[in-house]
Amino acid sequence: MSVGKIIVILGAPGSGKGTQAKRLQEKFSVPQISTGDILRAIAKEGFSLLAEQIRETQAAGKLVSDEILIQVVSERTQKEDCKKGFILDGYPRTLGQAQQLEGLALSQEREIKVVNVDILDSLLLKRLTGRRSCPSCGEIYNIYFKPPKSNNICDHCSEFLIHRSDDNLESINKRLQEYRKNTEPLIDYYKKHQCLSSIDGTQSPDEVFELLCQIFQ
Ligand code: AP5
Ligand code: MG
Repeated sequence: MSVGKIIVILGAPGSGKGTQAKRLQEKFSVPQISTGDILRAIAKEGFSLLAEQIRETQAAGKLVSDEILIQVVSERTQKEDCKKGFILDGYPRTLGQAQQLEGLALSQEREIKVVNVDILDSLLLKRLTGRRSCPSCGEIYNIYFKPPKSNNICDHCSEFLIHRSDDNLESINKRLQEYRKNTEPLIDYYKKHQCLSSIDGTQSPDEVFELLCQIFQ
């Protein structure tokens, strides 16, 4: 991956953004910035109004406000480890966020490259309801497609796996609605800006990763 780029991974909830961003992070030694993970960490921090707001919004499957996201992403991308570029997983998700990212890219003199992970709705339910993740190392499992070696225990750090509070039917439906209304239009937006590639996310994680590596090599 050429140095200094901003890689954006677009895709519906459960399309595999996190799974692939972690692998890209390892291969190219640039950080994965998952806004969902950052917001979950803030929500866990305590009883501030902000934490409470984020907790409720995430659990309901709604989008957290652009103002909060813009601040979170600006702060995170100024850190030392972003000097060689970074991978955005779950950001931008609205037109406002996309425009803010352009300003950021301009001020940091970086090019934006977007990849859309295409997926069939019919595959999403098992991916999301079956997902389990490690609260310590962040490894993502799936009880149907990628079970841990020992039931509900992380293969790497022996922690109990967690089931996200928004991986239930009601929140998943809301997340999909938000995706269709606010985020899917960004596919056309980035097509017009000629910085979009699309890949087939219905294949196995290894096959999807191979496609991504071809794009970013
Ligand atoms: P976020 O955490 O980003 O959730 P999401 O977008 O709904 O996406 P997911 O993390 O659910 O899915 P993923 O695409 O990462 O899939 P994964 O790799 O885990 O955001 C959560 C919430 O935070 C939002 O709803 C909102 O409230 C807030 N938020 C975050 N960013 C925001 C923003 N920018 N603006 C406003 N609000 C924001 O894979 C899913 C499962 O499938 C796993 O079990 C995995 O093992 C399995 N899997 C992955 N790939 C494959 C494959 N190829 N084949 C089979 N199984 C697979
Ligand atoms: Mg994710």
